[in-house]
Amino acid sequence: YNDHQERLIDLHESLTELYHYLLTTTKLGHDAMDYLQGRGLAKETIEDYQIGLAPNDGNIASQHLFNKGFVQEELLDSGVFTGANDDLRDRFRGRIIFPLRDRRGKVVAFSGRKLPGANDDQAKYLNSPETELFNKSQFLFNLDIAQNESRRAKELVLYEGFMDVISAANIGLKNGVASMGTSLTQDQAHIIGRYSKRLLLAYDGDKAGLEAMKRALDNMQTWSSRLDIDLLLFPNQLDPDEFIQTYGADAYREFVSKQRVSPIHFYRFYYRQHYSLNDDQGKLNYIQAMAKIISQTDTEVEQAIYIKELAEDTGLSQEVLTRQIKQVRQTEK
Ligand code: UTP
Ligand code: MN
Ligand code: MN
Ligand code: MN
Ligand code: MN
Repeated sequence: YNDHQERLIDLHESLTELYHYLLTTTKLGHDAMDYLQGRGLAKETIEDYQIGLAPNDGNIASQHLFNKGFVQEELLDSGVFTGANDDLRDRFRGRIIFPLRDRRGKVVAFSGRKLPGANDDQAKYLNSPETELFNKSQFLFNLDIAQNESRRAKELVLYEGFMDVISAANIGLKNGVASMGTSLTQDQAHIIGRYSKRLLLAYDGDKAGLEAMKRALDNMQTWSSRLDIDLLLFPNQLDPDEFIQTYGADAYREFVSKQRVSPIHFYRFYYRQHYSLNDDQGKLNYIQAMAKIISQTDTEVEQAIYIKELAEDTGLSQEVLTRQIKQVRQTEK
C-alpha cells in the first residue's frame, strides 16, 4: 500500500471500531443486535467479524473521522461518504455494517444490510463503490481467514452471499469465501485456484442460485481447469445460512459431507430441470447438452457410467448414445 492507501485503511479501521461500538455497547444498537442474535450469530462471531451499526444520523461518522484528523479528501476517497464540502453523509445510514477485509486482513470497504423494519424500496445490501482499495472483481469476502483454513480443510467453499460465509464460520466452518453479489470473474477463479486444489460450490438453493452456480461451474472449468470441484444443491430453495438455521449445525455438516455432487451430476440435475424428458424435443435437447459434457470427461470408464445414466434418463440404448457422444467429440476437435 502507498501512504494514501495506508491512510484510507486507517480510516476504515476507525469506522469499523465506531460502528462496532455503536452496535455492541449502545442503546442504539439493541434492535440490530437482537436481529443478529436472532439469526443465530454468537457474540464471538459478531466480534470476529467486527460487525457494526451505522447510525441513522449520517453526520456522526464523518464528525468522528474529522475529530481523528482525517480530511475531506480522504473521506471522499474512502467511498463511504456521499455529498460534498462540509456536508459529507455516511452512505450506510441505519444499516448493519459488515467490514470487508482484503486478503491481508485490512478493512478496505463495507457492506451494509438494511434492518428488517426498513423501507421496502431500499436495497437489501449496499456496498462501498470501487475505490483504489476495493476492486470488486478481484475481491473475495473472508479470504484473509479462508486462505489458512482451506489449507487445513483441504478445500475452499464458495458461497453466494457473505452471510452464508459468516453463518458457516459461526458453526466452525471457516474455509468459505463469497464474491460481493456479482457473478464470478476470471480473476476470482484464478485467486481461488491459487489457494486451493479443491472447491466446493455452495450457492443458494433457489432458481437464481442454481443459474449462478451453473455459470460459475462453466467458468471455473474453463478458467481454472485443474480445480477439483464438488457442488451442493440445497433443498426447498434454502441458502446455506437458512439450512443451518432450519436444520442445525450437525445436519449441515452431514449434508456437506454426504450430499455433495460431482459436476456431471450437477449438470444432470440442472438440465433435467430445464428440459422436459416427456417429449421428443426436450429429450433431444437434454441428450445434446449432456453428450457435450460427457464427451469432455477423461476416462472411458467414467463415460460408460454416465452413458448408462443417460440411457436410464431417456430410455434410449447405450449404443445409440455412445455413437452420439463420439460424434460430439469429433465435431469438437
Ligand atoms: P442474497 O439475497 O442471497 O443474500 O444475495 P443473503 O446472503 O441470503 O442475505 P440475507 O440472508 O437475506 O441477509 C447474495 C449476495 O448478493 C449481494 C450481497 O453480496 C449478498 O451477499 N446482494 C444482494 C447485493 O449486493 N445487494 C442486494 O440488494 C442483495
Ligand atoms: Mn468488541
Ligand atoms: Mn440468493
Ligand atoms: Mn441467500
Ligand atoms: Mn440468506
